[in-house]
Amino acid sequence: MLKVMIVGCGGIAPAHIEGYLKFGELATITHLVDPNLERAHTLIAKYNLQNAIAQADYAEALPLVDAVSICTPPALHCGAVVDSLRNGCHVLVEKPMAPSLAECDQMIQAAQKHDRLLSVVVQSRFISDIRNVVEMVKSGAYGKNLYTRVHSSWYRGESYYDLAWRGRWEVEGGGSTQNQSIHHIDLLLWTKGMPTSIRSFMTNLNHHNSQEEDFSSSILRYEDGSIAELTSSLIDHSSPQSLTFQMEKAGIGIPFQAFASKARPNGFPIANEEMVAQVTADFQARPKLTSEKHEGQIRNFLLAINGEQPLLATAIDGRNCIELITGVYQSAIENKDVTFPITQGSDYYTSKWRVNAPHFFEKSRDIEAFEDTTITNNS
Ligand SMILES: NC(=O)c1ccc[n+]([C@@H]2O[C@H](COP(=O)([O-])OP(=O)(O)OC[C@H]3O[C@@H](n4cnc5c(N)ncnc54)[C@H](O)[C@@H]3O)[C@@H](O)[C@H]2O)c1
Repeated sequence: MLKVMIVGCGGIAPAHIEGYLKFGELATITHLVDPNLERAHTLIAKYNLQNAIAQADYAEALPLVDAVSICTPPALHCGAVVDSLRNGCHVLVEKPMAPSLAECDQMIQAAQKHDRLLSVVVQSRFISDIRNVVEMVKSGAYGKNLYTRVHSSWYRGESYYDLAWRGRWEVEGGGSTQNQSIHHIDLLLWTKGMPTSIRSFMTNLNHHNSQEEDFSSSILRYEDGSIAELTSSLIDHSSPQSLTFQMEKAGIGIPFQAFASKARPNGFPIANEEMVAQVTADFQARPKLTSEKHEGQIRNFLLAINGEQPLLATAIDGRNCIELITGVYQSAIENKDVTFPITQGSDYYTSKWRVNAPHFFEKSRDIEAFEDTTITNNS
């Protein structure tokens, strides 16, 4: 039975607790850590965690546990991850992995040195319909992917940035691109790998208590000549989030959609209904996961620790997201194309660039916590 510690008892911690509770035959939660002890006690009571104790600091308990879920604000991820790995623990860390590539590399090196697993949360990979579309696109059955459109649209109200750790480049690390669109960016990278270059624009349209962007738009270019277009927005009331892969023979979307056209002799389109039926039948025939989202990723994490499955979401996947997002920021700030990889000599490899990042607005309100920590999404 693996002993698990949860570090950080705020908004996302319940998703981890519920995941571990689902697999009680594999793991038991023994420690909940938060400098605000009341939050740890509240979760212990809410989930009736009889084997768990609340602590203000993780250091003392690290030698006592086998695995750690890090659910703290992003700037604290690296220190807690490296300390956990050094103490022989396997680690599941929330997204974004860390605000800089330098920190990501430090975490990856610690995992290698201490021979422990390090997984970064990408719960969308553990949704059956998404996984199946990604596999269909990657299979090549519908020809080459020519163009992908990623519409990463979210809504967060003005007060979202009142939380003290949000809204500052040097604390949160970035705005909508880093913290919300990372989910869709991971799916894009999972499907197509890293692009060769990126060109981006960013601004803040309507979040006046944040230095950071609430909108970015990017064009990504790939070695095989294909293109992706990525829009990240925190001001969308209801437009659906989507990834649309335009292949040579068909278009396939997340959420699942199939489109296909064929050309008349003069080049104008007619619907290709047989192809739509083929794509739809392919999608429907694919298997479903038994556990989804955080629960699915936690199941894989635990089974990977026990050597029963490969780790399906790795630290390299988490790092790739940070490299792409760093490219968005560099391109938008310097108003030029950025080519990958971003190398160690660059100011953008570390957090140095954040000192000179544009402040779209200055922060004027900071609170330590909201009374209501419910996490909801509009789409
Ligand atoms: N995967 C997802 O869909 C998803 C959704 C929301 C948040 N997140 C991520 O989860 C992380 C936490 O976000 P949140 O919304 O839960 O934030 P939050 O502010 O609600 O909670 C963070 C908690 O960490 C605690 N904390 C601060 N310093 C600590 C320390 N040194 N040791 C232990 N605990 C400490 C705080 O007191 C707070 O209770 C972030 O990286 C965020 O991006 C992921």
